[in-house]
Parts: sequence; C-alpha cells; structure tokens
Amino acid sequence: MIEKLEQHREDFNARITVVSALRELKQLRTDFLGKKGCVSLMLKEMRSLPAEEKPQAGKHINEFKGSVESLLQAKTLELEEKSGQASVAADGFDTTLPGRGESSGSVHPVTQVMDEIISIFFSLGFSVEEGPEIETDYYNFEALNIPKDHPARDMQDTFYVNEDIVLRTHTSPVQIHVMEKQQPPLRIIAPGRVFRCDSDISHTPMFHQIEGLMVDENVSFGDLKGVMDIFLHEVFGKQTRLRFRPSFFPFTCPSAEVDIECVMCSGKGCRVCSSTGWLEILGCGMVDPAVFKFVDYDSEKWTGFAFGLGIERIAMLKYGINDIRLFFENDLRFLKQF
Ligand code: PHE
Repeated sequence: MIEKLEQHREDFNARITVVSALRELKQLRTDFLGKKGCVSLMLKEMRSLPAEEKPQAGKHINEFKGSVESLLQAKTLELEEKSGQASVAADGFDTTLPGRGESSGSVHPVTQVMDEIISIFFSLGFSVEEGPEIETDYYNFEALNIPKDHPARDMQDTFYVNEDIVLRTHTSPVQIHVMEKQQPPLRIIAPGRVFRCDSDISHTPMFHQIEGLMVDENVSFGDLKGVMDIFLHEVFGKQTRLRFRPSFFPFTCPSAEVDIECVMCSGKGCRVCSSTGWLEILGCGMVDPAVFKFVDYDSEKWTGFAFGLGIERIAMLKYGINDIRLFFENDLRFLKQF
C-alpha cells in the first residue's frame, strides 16, 4: 500500500511539473481526486486491509490527498497569473483586473439648498411659480417702480440684449407675472437663475435667487418678520440671532435687509463679517402701492410683503465655502463633498 502510494506521488509530481494549461490541470485533478481517481481507489482498497493496518494507511492516504490538493491550488494560481499576463501582452488589455466600479452622482449643493428652502416655504403654505430668464424692461424694472433713468437701475449691473430686453437681474419680475394672472390672496415663491455683469470671489454673472410674495387682507410687517424668523431659524438653526435693518428698494415700502449673526464667529467679529458680527442675508419689505397699481390691485384692500435672497450666498454660509466660483467649476473633488 505504502509503495503504491509512493508510486502515485512520483507520478503526480512528474505530471504536474509539465502541466502548462488550466485544462490539463483539470484533468490531473480528475485523475487523482475525482470520484474514480486514484485517491478514492486507494481508500476503497484500504477496506480489505487487516484492521491493524487500516489507521496507518488511512493517515498516509489523507496526507497524500492534502498535498495533491495544495499543489493543484498553487499551480492553478500560477497558471491564472500567466494567462493574465499573456492576455495583457496580446492586446494591452488586462481582462483579469477587477472592475473600477461606478461612483454615483449627487445633487448639486445649490440645488440642495434650493430644495430645502422650497420645502420650508411649502410647509408655510407657499406654492412655487416660475418666470422667464429673459425679460422685457417693463417686467424687470418699470412695473417694479424703477422707471428709466432712475438711479436704482445702477444697483444692478444689467446684461442688455437690446434696449428693451434684458437678462433678468432678479426674480422680482415673477411677482408682476403672478399678480397679473392671479387675484389675492396669494402666497408664492419663485426660485430661478438671475444674471448680473459682475465677477469676483463673491459674485458670478449667473446665480440663483428665491423670491417670495404674499398678498392678502391685513398682511403686516409683523407677518413678514414672523415668516422670515421661521425661515431663517429653520435654515441656520434656532439659536441664530436676526436683525432687521431699514433699507431701500423701489418696489417695497418700508424696505428692510435682514442680517443673521455671523455663522463663522457667532457674532464676535471676523473676516467673513468684516468684524461687524452680522451677515446680510436678504432684502424684503411691504409691497409698494405703486407696484399694485401696475397690476391693478386695489391697495386700499390688499397689502403684501415680498422678499428676495441669493441661494449661493446661503449655501456658502451654510457649508463654509469661501469662493462662489467653486459652485460653477464642476470640479468633482468639490462636488463630491456634498
Ligand atoms: N430683488 C431684490 C434684489 O435682487 C431683492 C428683493 C426682493 C428686495 C423682494 C425686496 C423685495 O436685490
């Protein structure tokens, strides 16, 4: 029995050294470890041995089986590696390399902030309206109480398509479109792109705004403050302090700008807030009766408030981004962080 085993071992060693293809290796495995292979034959023969010889023989056969298995495995790896290298050499393409996988995309940070703001106002009963990005002078300026040659036009660096057509400089013209086709009471927000001829670390020629407009009976400045309070605390956190500063917009009266306590230094004063401790966040005010006149609303009966804010600015403060241009460079190293 032992002699026979040694014979098989020599036989196996001789054959495995000349194997050069996976197919041959498979045959070798069948011959030695298969159902009718020599290992099973020997195990069968073992049954006819005298009882006292059985354990010893069994031990040898199992040891042989183990070594055949590990030699076959080592040879398999060796051949696989070789065949991989051969196929790379043949066409320069390694079919044995694991795939690279697909990384999934994500929602752009500007869109994320936009969606968040929309859902806050949605929960306050506002619905979403849209307007054109290319506007007439009438909607962008005139009907918002900014007549031609009014100094307020200088506040916005307008892209003119021609004398009468502009790329909208703010989302406020949507107020006019909505009031022309709907009667109060109304509560809308209007998100979208706006354009201004300006470019530096905090300005890009295209950016996004959200406009808000509420018109009803007895809408007061208190309602405006309450809505801004809920909205800004939702976005920046309950502990954030706000302040309303008197300001001027031709289409609102009285007008205000809302500041939040600087999110970078918590009001202590830093570079981001120019040592004031406050950050300007949005413009707002009570709709000027002159605007109601353009859309034929009775300003004795209706009052309203409006507000407008820049989305990129909010996103920058929320995520601590110091250059607005990052939003539009489409650098995956930036976008992947959101
Ligand atoms: N349209 C103004 C701007 O772009 C913001 C604003 C909107 C102010 C509505 C008051 C009311 O600066």
